[in-house]
Amino acid sequence: MAFIAPSILAADFANLQRDVEMLNESEADYIHVDIMDGMFVPNISFGFPVCEAINRYATKLLDVHLMIEQPDRYLEKFRDAGAAILTVHYEACPHLHRTVQLIRELGVLPSVALNPHTPVEMLSEILPDLSQVLIMSVNPGFGGQKFIENTYRKIYKLNCMREELGLDFKIEVDGGVNNDNARFLVENGADVLVAGSFVFNSTNPLETIAELRKN
Ligand code: DX5
Ligand code: ZN
Repeated sequence: MAFIAPSILAADFANLQRDVEMLNESEADYIHVDIMDGMFVPNISFGFPVCEAINRYATKLLDVHLMIEQPDRYLEKFRDAGAAILTVHYEACPHLHRTVQLIRELGVLPSVALNPHTPVEMLSEILPDLSQVLIMSVNPGFGGQKFIENTYRKIYKLNCMREELGLDFKIEVDGGVNNDNARFLVENGADVLVAGSFVFNSTNPLETIAELRKN
């Protein structure tokens, strides 16, 4: 059984309360919140007021994915906006150890994301400090992109590292997840599946979430 984190990026922003309440009723474990700054990624999504608004109605934990440069500047503000898990990008953090400690000191679970080209080995020294590793299965910036097949291998390798080190961080996969790849992702070691367009573009998002969760 996988954890499911529907990405609110694919929701109808004109009906955000309705879509958050739909997720509350669903079997989703988290609500995945994508923050994009137009610098680290070539797109801008939304910031604190929208995150706070989601948090006001959400009964699920907010899994906040920061696709921003110098995330240290805003960690506290995202904690205050409701983040239970904070993901920063390896590629955006020259002092990743410090960033991870800051997240923990704020009482939030630290998670680190890897872009598709970044090897999982780059995290070997910091894995014991993490609650979660997010493996990007598309290039970050947009919903609705095609899943990159090499992701299975990365998840498999990371899962082996986790077993060798006797650690229990979660492995989350984000981008292009659907019913065709979910099972194989979980078989290779993924624990948390992020799904945006597959959930929100389906005719019955509640059923889609329940089906994904069975993997
Ligand atoms: C991409 C985001 C993803 C995205 C997933 O930059 O990090 O979370 O919303 O959307 P789908 O599932 O449509 O690929
Ligand atoms: Zn994301």
